[in-house]
Amino acid sequence: MELLAESIIERSKSTQILCEESQIDESTAAAVQTVDGDVLGRLFVFTPSGPQSVINVTNEKDIIVGRSPSCSFQLSQSTASNKHFRIYVVVIDDDMDPLIYCQDLSSNGTFHNRNLIGKGRVVLLSDGDVLDIRHCASFLFQQKLKFAEKVEHEYTGDEYTISNRLLGCGGFSKIYMACNKKTGRQVACKIIDKSKLSSKHFLEDHEIKILRELKHPNIVRTEMDYNSKNQFFIFEELITGGDLFSYLNKMGTVPEINCLLIVYQILKALHYLHKQNIAHRDIKLENILLVSSNELFFRIVLTDFGVARQAENGQRMSTYVGTPEYTAPEIKAIKRRKLQRGECSYGLEVDLWSLGIILYLLLSGTSPTFQANPETLQPQVQFTGNIWKKVSRQARDLITKLLEPEPSKRLNVLQTQNHPWIARHRSRLEKLYEKHVLCCI
Ligand SMILES: Nc1ncnc2c1ncn2[C@@H]1O[C@H](COP(=O)(O)OP(=O)(O)O)[C@@H](O)[C@H]1O
Ligand SMILES: [Mg+2]
Repeated sequence: MELLAESIIERSKSTQILCEESQIDESTAAAVQTVDGDVLGRLFVFTPSGPQSVINVTNEKDIIVGRSPSCSFQLSQSTASNKHFRIYVVVIDDDMDPLIYCQDLSSNGTFHNRNLIGKGRVVLLSDGDVLDIRHCASFLFQQKLKFAEKVEHEYTGDEYTISNRLLGCGGFSKIYMACNKKTGRQVACKIIDKSKLSSKHFLEDHEIKILRELKHPNIVRTEMDYNSKNQFFIFEELITGGDLFSYLNKMGTVPEINCLLIVYQILKALHYLHKQNIAHRDIKLENILLVSSNELFFRIVLTDFGVARQAENGQRMSTYVGTPEYTAPEIKAIKRRKLQRGECSYGLEVDLWSLGIILYLLLSGTSPTFQANPETLQPQVQFTGNIWKKVSRQARDLITKLLEPEPSKRLNVLQTQNHPWIARHRSRLEKLYEKHVLCCI
């Protein structure tokens, strides 16, 4: 964790467009569990015989409620499943209230404010919410929000209610939990501040225009958009495992096997995009979301198409966009060359460079360093420190080939998918993907 805190890029460094081309108290509870770590929320347990106890929610450990003796809170009634539901915490940022989620694991159902959650599904909990296991127990959720404030928004549509639960922030937008009034389902609502999109070249509906055309299991699914005078709204599926930044922060470093499962899915999304000549141009930890994080294989979703661009007929791009820590050298060169009034452009390869940075960050918890290769004089990524001794030669080889300064020599999506680090596990990965991603959407 310290290693990460010291060297990893900060979340606040956001995407840049630098120049353009064109009611309850504790006394009601009989027993309060003692816990390690900060108490972020509480569940007050009620059974037909009255108030029972309080379960403290912390970031240290998930809470599993059910009949099994291994559960953190055990129930005796036969209507409860062995593992009935799971409560877990996602910490996005110190300046944001932690997100506390409930995943229904039961066959008989867990009800959230009287609505069935559904096996495998997840809801974001808010202060005052009630979870219910019929004929067994009810759980009143309490979370004192430190940062919640009234959301100033101009949405006047009928379809959604926008809550004050902040899910994340970016350079141009804030993302809140919203509810689809008809289905009762929670969604994410991205509110884009038009005044921040000061760039004349990025129109407010730029992102949705690209997103509307995309349909892929590893790309965020949008439901609807809405335009008002000063804001633009994108309603999209709520992704409930946080982003890769928060995941890495929690893990310190990510084991190679987990990295493989993550990179495999990012490549699926990139393959789909690049086939259509769409460059994402802002691949970074914060823009890759996790649907869950407790299983080995969980779905990964690429989001934030704010600076994505479809290059017609292999046309090259020339805007200096992205997040500096992740941008390929050919994008950085744009700025230098522009100063010298020289010509410079780049292509889809920029996304593969960013992927190389991501893999390096996940495996080591640190940003890569580069040193000039004595033969080519080109900067070459360095693998210094004990952490790399645990990492396979193949993984390091892949990173080196992705962090290749010369774009024409850098691996493209297909070549990356065929690299031995991935290719030797292909059939197993495909099966896992089918079972855990394709079958669950
Ligand atoms: N669909 C979603 N579900 C849950 N959290 C999300 C969702 N979309 C974005 N977020 C969170 O909000 C953050 C900012 O969203 P993003 O679309 O990247 O905005 P920006 O374009 O301003 O960077 C993300 O890093 C992520 O933590
Ligand atoms: Mg973003």
